Amino acid sequence: AVAPLGAGLRFLITAGPTQEALDPVRYLSNHSSGKMGFALASAARALGAQVTLVAGPVHLPTPAGVERINVLSANEMLAACQAHQAQSDLFIACAAVADYRMATPAEQKIKKTASETLTLELIKNPDILATLAASSPRPFCIGFAAETQQVLEYAQQKLIRKNLDAIVANDVSDPSIGFGSDQNRVTLLWQDQQHQLQQQDWPATQKATLAHQLIARLITLYQEQRSI
Ligand code: C5P
Repeated sequence: AVAPLGAGLRFLITAGPTQEALDPVRYLSNHSSGKMGFALASAARALGAQVTLVAGPVHLPTPAGVERINVLSANEMLAACQAHQAQSDLFIACAAVADYRMATPAEQKIKKTASETLTLELIKNPDILATLAASSPRPFCIGFAAETQQVLEYAQQKLIRKNLDAIVANDVSDPSIGFGSDQNRVTLLWQDQQHQLQQQDWPATQKATLAHQLIARLITLYQEQRSI
C-alpha cells in the first residue's frame, strides 16, 4: 500500500477569532467562524498527518483524530503555538487574530457613568505567524490574507514582510465566499528557489473540498522546498 500524502507530517493550525477581555464580562472579537481552519485540520488529518488545532472560541466540533487546544486571547494563542512549534513541520495561521487588546483589562465590570463617551486604550497584539516565522528552527509557515482590494498585491507584501513560505489570498469583499460562508475562492502565492513569485488559483469551491486540495498542494510545496 502507498503511504498517504501527509503520513509522518505534523501540522499546527490556528483557527477562529480571538477574544480580548475588556473587563470580566465583556470582550473585543470578530465574526470569524473558524470553518476554513477546521476544514484544513480535518483535511490534513484525512491525508494521514498528525494535527494540532489551536482554536479560538467557535461553535464547531473537533475533527476526528485532531488534537484541539482551546484558547481565547491572542496571547494565549501565541503561547499554545510556541509550545507546539518545535514538534510541527507545517504551521498554517488561519485564525483571525484581534489586532489590538486592552492595554489594561479592567479587574471589575466597567461601570456606565454620566459621560456620553468612554475611551478605551488598546495596545497591539503579537503577530503569531510572524513570530513563529522569525524563530529558528521554524516550521514551514503558511499565512492567510483576507483582503477587500488589491488582494494579490497585499498578500504578496505579507508573504515578504512576515517571511512566509506561502500565503493563501482571498477576496472577502465578495459575500458568497470568505467569512462565515461555506465556499471560498483563493490564490496560493509563494516564492520559488530563484525568489520568483509563483501563484496557483482555485475557483470558488466548498471549503472542505478546497481544504483538501490546498493541504495536498502545501504538502508537495513543503516537500519540493525541503528537498533542495
Ligand atoms: O496582517 P494580517 O493580519 O492580515 O495577516 C493575516 C495572517 O497573519 C493570517 O495568516 C493570520 O492568521 C496571521 N496573524 C497572526 N497573528 C496576528 C495577526 C495575524 O498569526 N496577530
